Amino acid sequence: MGAALALAERGRGRTAPNPNVGCVIVREDRVVGRGWTQVGGRPHAEAMALAEAGAKARGATACVTLEPCAHRSPRGPACSDLLIEAGITRVVAALGDPDARTAGQGFTRLEAAGIAVTRGVRANEARRSMAGFLTRQALGRPHVTLKLATSLDGCIAMADGSSRWITGPQARMHAHLERSRHDAILVGRGTYEVDAPRLDVRLPGLEARGPMRVLLSSTVQDVPGWTVIAAPHDIAMPPRVDHILVEGGAAVASAFLAADLVDRLLFYRAPILIGGGNPALRDIGLTDLSAAHGRWAIVDARQLGMDRLEVYERERNEA
Ligand SMILES: NC(=O)c1ccc[n+]([C@@H]2O[C@H](COP(=O)([O-])OP(=O)(O)OC[C@H]3O[C@@H](n4cnc5c(N)ncnc54)[C@H](OP(=O)(O)O)[C@@H]3O)[C@@H](O)[C@H]2O)c1
Repeated sequence: MGAALALAERGRGRTAPNPNVGCVIVREDRVVGRGWTQVGGRPHAEAMALAEAGAKARGATACVTLEPCAHRSPRGPACSDLLIEAGITRVVAALGDPDARTAGQGFTRLEAAGIAVTRGVRANEARRSMAGFLTRQALGRPHVTLKLATSLDGCIAMADGSSRWITGPQARMHAHLERSRHDAILVGRGTYEVDAPRLDVRLPGLEARGPMRVLLSSTVQDVPGWTVIAAPHDIAMPPRVDHILVEGGAAVASAFLAADLVDRLLFYRAPILIGGGNPALRDIGLTDLSAAHGRWAIVDARQLGMDRLEVYERERNEA
């Protein structure tokens, strides 16, 4: 399942509206097929892994990060049928598929064909991996990551607005890697005008993975090369966006937090003091300090050169 989860990451940010799934087919302790959801959502991970395995799939185990689909579509056959036809004898899955067209029917079809099914293996990691698809299914909007790069004293820019660069090269490379894992990146009109950001992926081999660029503005309507939205909740509108990265600035970050639209925080902190600079956040609608507690859980912390990265997830029951 670890290998299947790693393969699933290859499609992250590029498979919407389909989930980024990974699949590994194992026979007699050897991997005979590997697959992950391809750009645009097809072929599915299982179809790709079965194609690689060929006749070796007979009697093999398929490890897959999501329940194999039960619905046939004009774009391809149902993966549960493909697994049955290929002679797979065991399926190990991380998560059930909440999509109403599958929702347990994939497992039922496999079991009816005599295939042993194990569910729930490394489910939390799979939930994190497919956060975009799952958030879209549960809340009807993309999964939102907010990136903040601050000084030790919590500033995102000098008082004159200059913010290049707060963090060092390793942190910036990590931020570019994060860009490659999102369908879209959003900034506010302030950042657009001050920084004129390209929002591309400047990493060797990943240059082609530049996400859609989204601008938040209530005053500007048409900007060539950008999708403009007028309010934070409009992130649900652009099609084929399941993972969105919000890159600021302060007004936009605060607006997303005030609307409780942030699911994940990427917090890069540089060992510098600015003093009297622009704070990372403005009012986020907090009136009672006790309400600030229990909202964010740390899930990763690491050193990136001189800088510190901390990753937090919003504690939410419904997603
Ligand atoms: N260190 C970092 O991580 C980082 C990252 C990005 C930016 N920055 C810095 O941050 C500064 C810019 O931040 P900023 O706060 O001035 O500007 P900003 O947040 O980038 O953009 C503010 C604009 O976004 C739009 N906006 C914000 N909330 C909205 C809402 N609820 N509905 C609709 N539109 C909304 C408004 O545009 P309209 O007025 O057109 O409606 C507003 O004027 C720059 O100095 C930049 O260098 C730092």
